[in-house]
Amino acid sequence: MLLLVLGCAAVAFGVLGCVRAPSNVSDGQNAPAPAPEPKPRPEPEPDPQAELDAKLKDWVAQSPMRQRMHAMWIDCGLIVRFAAGGRLVDYDWLEASAEDIARKADAFADMWEIIRDENRNMAVRAKAGEWFDAHLASQKLWSCCTDCHCEYWSPYMRGFNPETFQAWLDNGNAADDAPVGNIRLNAPPGFLRIMFSMFGSVNATNNAIEKQDAKAVLNATKNIHTIAADQVQIWRTIEGNARAIAERAEINHTDGIREHYEKIVQTCSNCHERFVNDGRTPLNPLPWKYHDE
Ligand code: HEC
Ligand code: HEC
Repeated sequence: MLLLVLGCAAVAFGVLGCVRAPSNVSDGQNAPAPAPEPKPRPEPEPDPQAELDAKLKDWVAQSPMRQRMHAMWIDCGLIVRFAAGGRLVDYDWLEASAEDIARKADAFADMWEIIRDENRNMAVRAKAGEWFDAHLASQKLWSCCTDCHCEYWSPYMRGFNPETFQAWLDNGNAADDAPVGNIRLNAPPGFLRIMFSMFGSVNATNNAIEKQDAKAVLNATKNIHTIAADQVQIWRTIEGNARAIAERAEINHTDGIREHYEKIVQTCSNCHERFVNDGRTPLNPLPWKYHDE
């Protein structure tokens, strides 16, 4: 029986073989057409211009502030994975993740600290009636605001388009005839509110310095001081707790990390609650949770 089946199969293949053969020569009219072979798809030609366009589009959209938020969020996830799970801990990555949060929080705090200090300096000069120095301090303050804007705004927010950079490339220089749009705000309204409030105060201090009105200068500097000092405190809290986690990880310990982590989560979430909730869904860091909980 088996032999018979094999025999039939052999015949069938033989027949098929015969049928196929004539179709290769051109007179096989009755033969069924061979199944069309799938044609190999031609490799798409790389289009350098399209690639550059995509790259420039990507560049202008990237917001360094959001990227840092994303990085800290991922770091938080890794701290939970290693330190709350407790089974397989990669201490190097645990330490690096915490250190990454500390470094980024430190950079944010530094930005606010120079604003707080320049603002205080301006108030001191005005109080002493040193109007020339007060005016210089006010310019310095504004330039510190711009430092942060330069570091944390996406090029798109600053009005740059892909065409802007394309024109720079075409010209071989960064000539200002390259097309540039207006500033496009993208941050949530709660966060922008503190920005516009400080902007109002900077203008008010400039007017008061112009009029040599020390009392009005002090009034306006109070608002900037309150905002900047609050931000310094928030970011130093995150930095300090992240650094404490890194120090535990450095000596291969996970105990005590939970308290520091929870303090970080609380500080991130409070800030989102205050400044992000009204604009978009905040992505708070993950809670402390074991895998098998
Ligand atoms: C000073 C306030 C503040 C603190 C502190 C803060 N954030 Fe944020 N966060 C913001 C603001 C403002 C945005 C919105 C940014 C935007 O979309 O322009 C944001 C957005 C985010 C986003 C979403 C980004 C997106 O793509 O929309 C993540 C994720 C995030 N934060 C993570 C964190 C983590 C993790 C921490 C703590 C380690 C933290 N943030 C601390 C203010 C803060
Ligand atoms: C921690 C960084 C940081 C600091 C410090 C900072 N800003 Fe901003 N500022 C931002 C971000 C981020 C935006 C929002 C960009 C967007 O819409 O996405 C912004 C937006 C603004 C805007 C709205 C855009 C515009 O130019 O009309 C104003 C006004 C502003 N900031 C004023 C100030 C002033 C005044 C100071 C200093 C006293 C200051 N900012 C300090 C980060 C900062």
